[in-house]
Amino acid sequence: MFAIISDIHGNFEALNAVVNDIGSQGIDRVFCLGDVVGYGPQPAECIDLVRKMCEVCLCGNHDYALVYGATGFNAVAADAINYHRNILMPQLGGKKRDDAPLKRWTFLKDLLFRYMEEDILFVHGSPRNPINEYITETDVKWGLERKIHEIFSLVERICFIGHTHRPGILNSKMEFLTTTDVNDEYQFPTDHKAVINVGSIGQPRDGDPRACYAIVDNGVVRFRRVPYDVEAVCRKIQETGLLDESLAERLKVGK
Ligand SMILES: [Fe+2]
Repeated sequence: MFAIISDIHGNFEALNAVVNDIGSQGIDRVFCLGDVVGYGPQPAECIDLVRKMCEVCLCGNHDYALVYGATGFNAVAADAINYHRNILMPQLGGKKRDDAPLKRWTFLKDLLFRYMEEDILFVHGSPRNPINEYITETDVKWGLERKIHEIFSLVERICFIGHTHRPGILNSKMEFLTTTDVNDEYQFPTDHKAVINVGSIGQPRDGDPRACYAIVDNGVVRFRRVPYDVEAVCRKIQETGLLDESLAERLKVGK
Protein backbone atom coordinates (compact mmCIF):
# COMPACT_ATOMS: atom_id res chain seq x y z
CA MET A 1 0.00 0.00 0.00
CA PHE A 2 1.33 3.42 -0.89
CA ALA A 3 0.14 7.01 -1.37
CA ILE A 4 0.79 9.23 -4.40
CA ILE A 5 0.74 13.00 -4.01
CA SER A 6 1.34 15.71 -6.61
CA ASP A 7 1.24 19.45 -7.34
CA ILE A 8 1.63 20.78 -3.81
CA HIS A 9 2.60 24.24 -5.06
CA GLY A 10 3.80 25.77 -1.81
CA ASN A 11 0.49 25.11 -0.04
CA PHE A 12 1.69 23.92 3.37
CA GLU A 13 -1.80 23.86 4.98
CA ALA A 14 -3.07 21.47 2.30
CA LEU A 15 0.07 19.33 2.49
CA ASN A 16 -0.20 19.03 6.28
CA ALA A 17 -3.85 17.99 6.05
CA VAL A 18 -2.92 15.30 3.51
CA VAL A 19 0.03 14.08 5.59
CA ASN A 20 -2.34 13.64 8.54
CA ASP A 21 -4.82 11.79 6.34
CA ILE A 22 -2.05 9.51 5.01
CA GLY A 23 -0.92 8.87 8.60
CA SER A 24 -4.46 7.94 9.64
CA GLN A 25 -4.53 5.28 6.88
CA GLY A 26 -1.39 3.61 8.24
CA ILE A 27 0.61 4.23 5.04
CA ASP A 28 4.36 4.67 5.21
CA ARG A 29 5.34 4.73 1.52
CA VAL A 30 4.66 8.02 -0.24
CA PHE A 31 5.59 9.02 -3.80
CA CYS A 32 5.46 12.62 -5.01
CA LEU A 33 4.95 13.42 -8.70
CA GLY A 34 6.39 16.93 -8.54
CA ASP A 35 5.51 20.64 -8.53
CA VAL A 36 6.38 21.07 -4.87
CA VAL A 37 6.98 24.78 -5.56
CA GLY A 38 5.22 27.49 -7.60
CA TYR A 39 2.07 29.58 -6.85
CA GLY A 40 1.82 29.19 -3.04
CA PRO A 41 3.21 31.06 -0.02
CA GLN A 42 5.39 28.38 1.66
CA PRO A 43 7.71 26.58 -0.79
CA ALA A 44 10.54 25.96 1.71
CA GLU A 45 8.25 24.34 4.29
CA CYS A 46 6.73 22.11 1.60
CA ILE A 47 10.16 20.99 0.34
CA ASP A 48 11.26 20.13 3.89
CA LEU A 49 8.16 18.01 4.54
CA VAL A 50 8.30 16.25 1.14
CA ARG A 51 12.00 15.48 1.63
CA LYS A 52 11.20 14.00 5.01
CA MET A 53 8.26 11.81 4.08
CA CYS A 54 8.54 10.87 0.39
CA GLU A 55 10.47 7.85 -0.80
CA VAL A 56 10.65 9.30 -4.31
CA CYS A 57 9.96 12.80 -5.59
CA LEU A 58 9.84 13.59 -9.31
CA CYS A 59 10.51 16.87 -11.09
CA GLY A 60 7.52 19.01 -12.13
CA ASN A 61 7.62 21.90 -14.59
CA HIS A 62 7.57 24.45 -11.74
CA ASP A 63 10.42 22.71 -9.88
CA TYR A 64 12.38 22.68 -13.14
CA ALA A 65 11.57 26.36 -13.82
CA LEU A 66 12.74 27.37 -10.37
CA VAL A 67 16.21 25.95 -10.99
CA TYR A 68 16.61 26.46 -14.73
CA GLY A 69 14.31 29.42 -15.57
CA ALA A 70 10.58 29.94 -16.15
CA THR A 71 10.23 29.78 -19.93
CA GLY A 72 6.74 29.52 -21.43
CA PHE A 73 5.02 30.45 -18.15
CA ASN A 74 2.25 33.04 -17.88
CA ALA A 75 3.10 36.21 -15.94
CA VAL A 76 1.40 35.16 -12.67
CA ALA A 77 3.15 31.75 -12.62
CA ALA A 78 6.52 33.22 -13.63
CA ASP A 79 6.31 35.94 -10.93
CA ALA A 80 5.58 33.25 -8.32
CA ILE A 81 8.56 31.18 -9.49
CA ASN A 82 10.84 34.23 -9.30
CA TYR A 83 9.55 34.96 -5.79
CA HIS A 84 10.23 31.34 -4.77
CA ARG A 85 13.68 31.42 -6.32
CA ASN A 86 14.54 34.43 -4.14
CA ILE A 87 13.40 32.51 -1.07
CA LEU A 88 15.17 29.27 -1.99
CA MET A 89 18.39 30.29 -3.73
CA PRO A 90 21.29 29.57 -1.36
CA GLN A 91 23.36 32.66 -0.64
CA LEU A 92 27.08 32.42 -1.21
CA GLY A 93 29.36 33.40 1.66
CA GLY A 94 27.99 34.71 4.95
CA LYS A 95 28.79 33.50 8.42
CA LYS A 96 25.52 31.70 9.15
CA ARG A 97 25.95 27.95 9.42
CA ASP A 98 22.55 26.99 8.06
CA ASP A 99 22.76 24.19 5.50
CA ALA A 100 18.96 24.00 4.92
CA PRO A 101 18.94 26.32 1.85
CA LEU A 102 21.64 24.27 0.10
CA LYS A 103 19.85 21.02 0.93
CA ARG A 104 16.59 22.37 -0.54
CA TRP A 105 18.36 23.61 -3.67
CA THR A 106 20.15 20.29 -4.18
CA PHE A 107 16.86 18.46 -3.70
CA LEU A 108 15.17 20.52 -6.46
CA LYS A 109 18.15 20.30 -8.79
CA ASP A 110 18.44 16.50 -8.51
CA LEU A 111 14.76 15.52 -8.84
CA LEU A 112 14.17 12.54 -11.14
CA PHE A 113 12.14 12.90 -14.34
CA ARG A 114 10.64 9.42 -14.15
CA TYR A 115 10.50 6.48 -11.77
CA MET A 116 9.46 2.89 -12.39
CA GLU A 117 8.52 0.18 -9.91
CA GLU A 118 7.57 -3.23 -11.31
CA ASP A 119 5.19 -2.40 -14.19
CA ILE A 120 4.09 0.97 -12.81
CA LEU A 121 5.56 4.17 -14.26
CA PHE A 122 5.50 7.49 -12.38
CA VAL A 123 5.98 10.88 -14.15
CA HIS A 124 4.81 14.44 -13.60
CA GLY A 125 3.27 15.22 -17.00
CA SER A 126 3.42 12.40 -19.53
CA PRO A 127 5.64 9.45 -20.50
CA ARG A 128 6.50 11.28 -23.80
CA ASN A 129 7.48 14.51 -22.10
CA PRO A 130 7.71 13.96 -18.35
CA ILE A 131 7.94 17.63 -17.40
CA ASN A 132 5.64 19.58 -19.69
CA GLU A 133 3.08 17.55 -21.61
CA TYR A 134 -0.55 17.58 -20.48
CA ILE A 135 -2.79 14.52 -20.77
CA THR A 136 -6.44 15.60 -20.48
CA GLU A 137 -9.98 14.53 -21.26
CA THR A 138 -9.83 16.72 -24.38
CA ASP A 139 -7.32 14.26 -25.90
CA VAL A 140 -10.24 11.82 -26.09
CA LYS A 141 -12.86 14.44 -27.04
CA TRP A 142 -10.72 15.70 -29.92
CA GLY A 143 -9.86 12.18 -31.06
CA LEU A 144 -6.08 12.52 -30.64
CA GLU A 145 -5.50 8.82 -31.29
CA ARG A 146 -1.88 9.24 -32.38
CA LYS A 147 -0.96 11.09 -29.17
CA ILE A 148 -2.76 8.54 -26.99
CA HIS A 149 -1.23 5.63 -28.92
CA GLU A 150 2.30 7.08 -28.53
CA ILE A 151 1.76 7.64 -24.82
CA PHE A 152 0.56 4.09 -24.22
CA SER A 153 3.44 2.66 -26.28
CA LEU A 154 5.64 3.99 -23.44
CA VAL A 155 3.50 2.51 -20.66
CA GLU A 156 3.97 -1.11 -19.69
CA ARG A 157 0.74 -1.36 -17.73
CA ILE A 158 -0.04 1.60 -15.44
CA CYS A 159 1.28 5.16 -15.37
CA PHE A 160 0.61 7.70 -12.61
CA ILE A 161 0.69 11.39 -13.49
CA GLY A 162 -0.20 14.83 -12.08
CA HIS A 163 0.36 18.20 -13.83
CA THR A 164 -3.23 19.03 -14.92
CA HIS A 165 -4.45 19.30 -11.30
CA ARG A 166 -7.51 17.27 -12.35
CA PRO A 167 -7.80 13.67 -11.13
CA GLY A 168 -9.06 11.01 -13.53
CA ILE A 169 -8.15 8.07 -15.74
CA LEU A 170 -7.28 7.79 -19.41
CA ASN A 171 -7.29 4.20 -20.64
CA SER A 172 -5.88 2.64 -23.79
CA LYS A 173 -9.42 2.00 -25.04
CA MET A 174 -9.59 5.79 -25.64
CA GLU A 175 -11.86 6.49 -22.68
CA PHE A 176 -11.48 9.21 -20.06
CA LEU A 177 -13.05 8.54 -16.67
CA THR A 178 -13.51 11.18 -13.98
CA THR A 179 -13.36 10.32 -10.29
CA THR A 180 -17.16 10.71 -10.24
CA ASP A 181 -17.46 8.16 -13.08
CA VAL A 182 -15.55 5.59 -10.99
CA ASN A 183 -16.97 6.65 -7.60
CA ASP A 184 -13.48 7.55 -6.32
CA GLU A 185 -12.23 3.98 -6.69
CA TYR A 186 -10.55 2.33 -9.68
CA GLN A 187 -9.20 -1.19 -10.12
CA PHE A 188 -6.11 -1.61 -12.34
CA PRO A 189 -7.44 -3.10 -15.61
CA THR A 190 -6.11 -6.52 -16.66
CA ASP A 191 -6.78 -6.38 -20.43
CA HIS A 192 -5.67 -2.82 -21.23
CA LYS A 193 -3.46 -0.01 -19.91
CA ALA A 194 -4.28 3.10 -17.90
CA VAL A 195 -2.80 6.52 -17.16
CA ILE A 196 -4.07 7.69 -13.78
CA ASN A 197 -3.97 11.33 -12.69
CA VAL A 198 -3.87 11.69 -8.90
CA GLY A 199 -5.01 15.34 -8.86
CA SER A 200 -3.43 18.19 -6.92
CA ILE A 201 -2.85 18.82 -3.24
CA GLY A 202 -2.19 22.55 -3.34
CA GLN A 203 -4.24 23.89 -6.25
CA PRO A 204 -7.09 21.57 -7.39
CA ARG A 205 -8.73 22.62 -10.67
CA ASP A 206 -11.70 20.26 -10.95
CA GLY A 207 -14.12 22.50 -9.05
CA ASP A 208 -13.53 20.82 -5.68
CA PRO A 209 -11.29 22.98 -3.45
CA ARG A 210 -10.31 20.09 -1.17
CA ALA A 211 -6.79 18.67 -1.49
CA CYS A 212 -6.63 15.55 -3.68
CA TYR A 213 -4.32 12.54 -3.65
CA ALA A 214 -4.47 8.78 -4.24
CA ILE A 215 -3.89 5.61 -2.26
CA VAL A 216 -2.94 2.41 -4.09
CA ASP A 217 -3.65 -0.88 -2.37
CA ASN A 218 -3.37 -4.22 -4.13
CA GLY A 219 -4.19 -2.86 -7.59
CA VAL A 220 -7.01 -0.60 -6.40
CA VAL A 221 -6.66 3.19 -6.53
CA ARG A 222 -8.67 5.23 -4.05
CA PHE A 223 -8.94 8.97 -4.70
CA ARG A 224 -9.01 10.90 -1.42
CA ARG A 225 -10.31 14.47 -0.91
CA VAL A 226 -9.10 16.25 2.22
CA PRO A 227 -10.49 19.59 3.48
CA TYR A 228 -8.01 22.14 4.81
CA ASP A 229 -7.97 25.79 5.95
CA VAL A 230 -8.15 27.53 2.54
CA GLU A 231 -8.71 30.96 4.14
CA ALA A 232 -5.43 30.68 6.08
CA VAL A 233 -3.50 30.03 2.84
CA CYS A 234 -5.27 32.94 1.13
CA ARG A 235 -4.19 35.24 3.98
CA LYS A 236 -0.58 34.02 3.65
CA ILE A 237 -0.66 34.66 -0.12
CA GLN A 238 -1.86 38.23 0.53
CA GLU A 239 0.77 38.78 3.24
CA THR A 240 3.60 38.05 0.79
CA GLY A 241 2.61 41.23 -1.06
CA LEU A 242 4.19 39.65 -4.14
CA LEU A 243 1.98 36.72 -5.11
CA ASP A 244 -0.98 37.59 -7.33
CA GLU A 245 -4.38 37.79 -5.63
CA SER A 246 -5.88 35.47 -8.26
CA LEU A 247 -3.80 32.65 -6.75
CA ALA A 248 -5.86 32.97 -3.54
CA GLU A 249 -9.20 33.34 -5.34
CA ARG A 250 -8.76 30.15 -7.36
CA LEU A 251 -8.05 28.08 -4.23
CA LYS A 252 -11.50 29.01 -2.84
CA VAL A 253 -13.28 27.54 -5.86
CA GLY A 254 -10.86 24.82 -6.88
CA LYS A 255 -10.29 26.19 -10.40
FE1 LIG B 1 1.34 21.86 -11.19
